[in-house]
Amino acid sequence: MASILILVTSFLLGGSSAFILDDAFLPQYYRNGRSLVLVGGNLAENNSEIYNTIIELCGGRGIAKIGIINAASLDPVGGYQYYRDLFLKYGALEANRIPIDVNHTQANADPKVVSLVRQQTGFFFGGGDQQRIIDTFYNPTQTGLMESPVLVALRERFNLGAVIAGTSAGTECQPNKIMINSGESWEALTYGVHTSYSDKHPHDLVYNPHGGLGFLDGFIIDAHFSERGREGRLAVLLDETRRSSHISRGFGVDENTALVVTHAESDAIVGKVIGQNGVVFIDVSHAHHDPHSTYYSISNVIFHYLTEGDQIGLRNLNITFSPTKTPMRGHEAYDHALTSSDIFYGKHRDSTHKPEFTRAATSVFDSRLDSTTYGDTYESHPTFRVTMTRTSYSVGYVERKSSFHTDITSYENLVVSIAERK
Ligand SMILES: *[C@@H]1O[C@H](CO)[C@@H](O)[C@H](O)[C@H]1NC(C)=O
Ligand SMILES: *[C@@H]1O[C@H](CO)[C@@H](O)[C@H](O)[C@H]1NC(C)=O
Ligand SMILES: *[C@@H]1O[C@H](CO)[C@@H](O)[C@H](O)[C@H]1NC(C)=O
Repeated sequence: MASILILVTSFLLGGSSAFILDDAFLPQYYRNGRSLVLVGGNLAENNSEIYNTIIELCGGRGIAKIGIINAASLDPVGGYQYYRDLFLKYGALEANRIPIDVNHTQANADPKVVSLVRQQTGFFFGGGDQQRIIDTFYNPTQTGLMESPVLVALRERFNLGAVIAGTSAGTECQPNKIMINSGESWEALTYGVHTSYSDKHPHDLVYNPHGGLGFLDGFIIDAHFSERGREGRLAVLLDETRRSSHISRGFGVDENTALVVTHAESDAIVGKVIGQNGVVFIDVSHAHHDPHSTYYSISNVIFHYLTEGDQIGLRNLNITFSPTKTPMRGHEAYDHALTSSDIFYGKHRDSTHKPEFTRAATSVFDSRLDSTTYGDTYESHPTFRVTMTRTSYSVGYVERKSSFHTDITSYENLVVSIAERK
């Protein structure tokens, strides 16, 4: 309604070009609704699929105006120049620095910055430390944190169709209720979850119970996921916070990979995976936590792993695999599943090996004889065992390439339990 009024007024005044329609739906809203592009870190300069998708969702080549927010970084200006050059190379009309960082928090109330935000058709949050983003976009008050005028303007733009994109910390900062700060899987299993840092256990899982920016509700969001073996940390954080947050689902985006979310304003909200690796979804809604066990013990955690072209309805977690893939069932390439002695080992340097968790999980679907396998933590005292099982509800899909490690594989409904190895 407001946009129609502005058009009419500007017509009466004899020309619309002088008006910036900064409270009208952007054209892309009519195609995609509210949208986000969440990249898992290490976004390669030549990942044209992800860069082109961001530009397309921002209105297209020669139209996209991207506001670059590098508040998470220790080098906000240098990082801005890097992304500006790339977005311009890939066809953005403009790439503008939103000049807010930990040393310039007062800019979050500057009317000039608010006005700059209102002219963008999308935003890109760079990586670093996600807590710096929270510290720069909220202002402390006596009763808690208050949204800054620039954050309010960002929300208005998002609601009108401006894309919220980010990588690494720029992805991890997007949930509403619970934001993960740092920590490793084994430490999370051994020492639990914390809301502040400790010198004694520098790898402990720390999270922010006040949440992130809140552009995507209903999930805890993680990044660098398979590459850093973060399956344990996300499962533990979901399980330990779900009673207070009522959030029992999360996802972790792998490096050089994106979850592209569209229609976030409605029940039709959908995510599509693009890029090199995949996105892991974890659902603890039906998990059983054994409170009597000496060490952390959880069963019936549901995992899905989606790769290039797969889509997931984000209300019900219903999955449609890419038409380039076919079911593995009945076409398995191996007799037996694989085990692992370092299940949270992620990135194999200088190789195309699948990370250990993905490798073991995929092998369960690609084996004729086994429907279950396990992987142990490398760390001991305690050693945890991750057990992975496929049931009649589980399916694996594959686009065959030259080998097990280069096959593009996905799966739905892998049942996972984690407990001390006896
Ligand atoms: C991107 O560059 C890397 C080397 O830096 C190369 O291995 C990869 O194949 C390239 N990817 C694409 C999509 O061109
Ligand atoms: C903020 O200022 C301090 C002190 O001058 C400096 O060490 C730090 O690098 C600055 N941080 C950013 C993100 O610019
Ligand atoms: C999920 O289910 C809804 C409702 O049945 C359907 O409209 C949608 O296309 C499904 N999405 C995916 C990605 O399978």
